[in-house]
Amino acid sequence: MSNASSSAAAGGAMDRAAAERGLWSSRLAFILAATGSAVGLGNIWKFPYITGENGGGAFVLVYLLCIAAVGVPIMMAEVLIGRRGGHSPINSMRAITSHEGLKPAWRWVAAIGVLAGFLILSFYSVIGGWAISYVGTAATGQLAGQSAESIGAIFTGLLGDPWKLLMWHTLFMALVMVVVARGVRSGLERAVSILMPALFVLLLIVVGYAMTTGHFGQAVSFLFQPDFSKLTTSGVLVALGHAFFTLSLGMGVMMAYGSYLPKNISIAKTSVAVSVMDTLVALLAGLAIFPIVFANGLEPGAGPGLIFQTLPLAFGQMPMGSLFGTLFFVLLIFAAWTSGISLLEPLVEWLEEQKGMNRTLSTLGAGIACWLLGIASILSLNLWSDVAPLGMFAMFEGKTIFDLLDFLTANILLPLGGLLVAVFVGWFLSRKVLEEELSMSPAVFTAWYRVLRYFTPIAVAIVFVYNLV
Ligand code: PHE
Repeated sequence: MSNASSSAAAGGAMDRAAAERGLWSSRLAFILAATGSAVGLGNIWKFPYITGENGGGAFVLVYLLCIAAVGVPIMMAEVLIGRRGGHSPINSMRAITSHEGLKPAWRWVAAIGVLAGFLILSFYSVIGGWAISYVGTAATGQLAGQSAESIGAIFTGLLGDPWKLLMWHTLFMALVMVVVARGVRSGLERAVSILMPALFVLLLIVVGYAMTTGHFGQAVSFLFQPDFSKLTTSGVLVALGHAFFTLSLGMGVMMAYGSYLPKNISIAKTSVAVSVMDTLVALLAGLAIFPIVFANGLEPGAGPGLIFQTLPLAFGQMPMGSLFGTLFFVLLIFAAWTSGISLLEPLVEWLEEQKGMNRTLSTLGAGIACWLLGIASILSLNLWSDVAPLGMFAMFEGKTIFDLLDFLTANILLPLGGLLVAVFVGWFLSRKVLEEELSMSPAVFTAWYRVLRYFTPIAVAIVFVYNLV
C-alpha cells in the first residue's frame, strides 16, 4: 500500500480507495455492515443490565438523548473522515491532516481507538463465549421448566468454571480471527443481511412471550417513566459511554467502514438509519427482559448476568422454548461475531499498513494477544474475583479486571476518542470539506455543525470532569 501521507491525499485517495479496495455494493450494504458492528452484545447483554443497575426510565431517557445529540453527530463525523481519507483510520487521519495542513499528531485519535478496540474485544469475547455456552444449554433442553433458582445456578456454575469459560472464549476468538484473516467484506455483507433481520424477529417473539407474563406494563413504566431521583452523575457517564459503545463510536470502526462508502451516498441518512436500528434492538431487548424480571421477582440490578438469568427462564416456559432458545443464542453469537470482527479489524489493518505484516500474520498476532488478555477477564470472574488492581483509587474501588476494562474503554477511551473526533471535524477541518462530504441542505448542515462544535464537546467534557473529580 502506498504511503498515505504522500501527495495523493484526501480527494484523490478516494478514487484510489475505490480502485484498490472496492466499495460497498450499495448504501444498504454499508448500513448492514455498520449495523452489524453496532448491534451486538452492547444492545442485548449490556443495555438491559446497566438500565437495571441505574434505575430505569431516567437512565433510558439520558441514553436516548446521548444517542441523538452526541452519537449521531459523531457517527457522521467518523464516516466523513473515513470516506475523505479512504484508508484505515490511522492513515485516513494522516492523509487528511497532510492534505489540510494540520498537525500529524491528530492520527493519535485513531490510535486511541485501535487500543480501545483491542481492550474491548478481550472481554467481549468472554461474553460471546457465554452466549456460545448457552446454545448447548438450550439445545439439550436443560432450560425447560426450570425455576429461577436453577437457571441462576446454571449461570453461576458457568462463571465458576475457568476452563469452560476459556474453551468458549477461545472458540469465539477463533471465529472472529477466521473472518478477519480472510478479509472482512466478502462474507460480511451477506451474513449480516440475513442474520440481523432474523435476530430482530426472534426478539419480537420473546417480547410477545413477555407480554403474556402479566408484567409487561410494569416493565414499560420501568423503562419509559423517568424517575430522576434514581439518576446519579455516574449513571449519566454510563449512559454517555454506552451511547459510544453501542454505536461503535470513538474507536475508528465507522471511519474504517466509511472508507468504503461511495461518494454519492448521504452520510447523514445512513448514520441516522444505523442509529435508529441499533436503538430499536436495545429497546426491544429491554422490553423482552424486564417483564420476565418482574414476573419472577428477580433483581433488575443483577449485573452482567441479567440476560443469562432471565431469557433462559422465558425459553424454559414458552412453547417450543428449546428451539427458540437455541435460535436466539445462535443469533446472539452472530450479532457478537459481527461486532467482534469490527473490533479487531482496525488493529489488523494498522499492523498490515504500518508494520508491513501480511493479513494472516497480523490477525494471528493481534488475535492471540487479545485472547491472552481475555484470560485475565475470565479469572476475574472466579479465582481473582476479589482482586481489584486499582482499588486504592476511590473511583475504581471493588472493580475487578473485567470491570476495569469495561469502565476504562466504554466510559473513558471511547468518549475521549469521540470528543477528539468532534473537535477535529468541528474545529479543524475546513467547512468546505465538510459541506462537500455531507451535501445536506444548509439548515440541516448548520444544525449538525453547531451541535458538533459546541454541544457535543462541552457535554462530553462536563460529564467527564464531573466523574473524575
Ligand atoms: N457496538 C457493539 C455492541 O453494541 C460493540 C462495539 C463497540 C463494536 C465498539 C465495535 C466498536 O455490542
